[in-house]
Amino acid sequence: MKPNEPSRTALNVARQRAAHQVLDHGSILYDPFAMKILREDEKDVLQFANKHPLASIGRLVTTARSRIAEDASSRAIERGIRQIVILGAGLDTFALRNPHGARQIRIYEVDHPATQAWKRDRLAEAQITLPPCLILVPIDFERDDVGEKLIAAGFQQNSPAFFTWLGVVPYLTQDAIDRTLDYMSSIQHSEVVFDYMEPPEASSEEIRQFEKERTEELEKVDEHWVSRFEPAGMAAILRSHGFSAIEDINFQEITSRFGRAVQGLAPGQAGVHVVHAKH
Ligand SMILES: C[S@@+](CC[C@H](N)C(=O)[O-])C[C@H]1O[C@@H](n2cnc3c(N)ncnc32)[C@H](O)[C@@H]1O
Repeated sequence: MKPNEPSRTALNVARQRAAHQVLDHGSILYDPFAMKILREDEKDVLQFANKHPLASIGRLVTTARSRIAEDASSRAIERGIRQIVILGAGLDTFALRNPHGARQIRIYEVDHPATQAWKRDRLAEAQITLPPCLILVPIDFERDDVGEKLIAAGFQQNSPAFFTWLGVVPYLTQDAIDRTLDYMSSIQHSEVVFDYMEPPEASSEEIRQFEKERTEELEKVDEHWVSRFEPAGMAAILRSHGFSAIEDINFQEITSRFGRAVQGLAPGQAGVHVVHAKH
């Protein structure tokens, strides 16, 4: 990311969620705040969604990973978990939509200081008030100690927590990924949902080409896909951090579970995975 500038990719993911409301009626992830937080009109959002024929795949993956995370967090809350930590939150609106209000959960949104400040401004401009359950924690995963910052914000180290980490791992170095996994695994009964990318060879030719173009665009805004993993390698990393129950959902499964909901979904195979791991 460019120093002192918010993440451009966070904006693009938010546009995907908004396009999903307009084109697919929010059938994977219903989000009444998706358009509001963007402060763009439907025409701009549709233009973004139609810029490339393969953008529909991005829309599928970004909404499906949030849906998988939110379904898993609902089950965790049913079991008694009361702390939700959204790592690299971007313009995520879960805290605004929180359907678990009555259960007194606390939601920690952890993000790069520049992205978080930008989100605050956006919410204020859209006249959306921060809900009392939400605590904002500015962090640079590459420099800061996640645990220290969370504890300073009131996070209960000795109580279980559910973490989401969506669209973030590919942008982090192996060192920052390891330190963050270390911290999550230090919390008893912790769970995490995150996504990761495989090396380009796992994707079909058109998607590989699309990824190449995206990589060049990302370079311009100083956001880089620096970490990719083979599924077996990711499972080994998670086991080495003590995560025992690991569900790795590949693109084929994502498509068969959610693909029908995406209007005009382009064909192709993408090397993306969503993982739900429990400690
Ligand atoms: C692609 S966006 C995903 C946002 C959000 N999770 C979503 O699904 O809408 C990537 C997010 O990771 C955050 N991020 C990337 N590198 C980071 C770092 N070194 N420290 C803190 N946050 C970082 C960005 O600020 C941004 O919010």
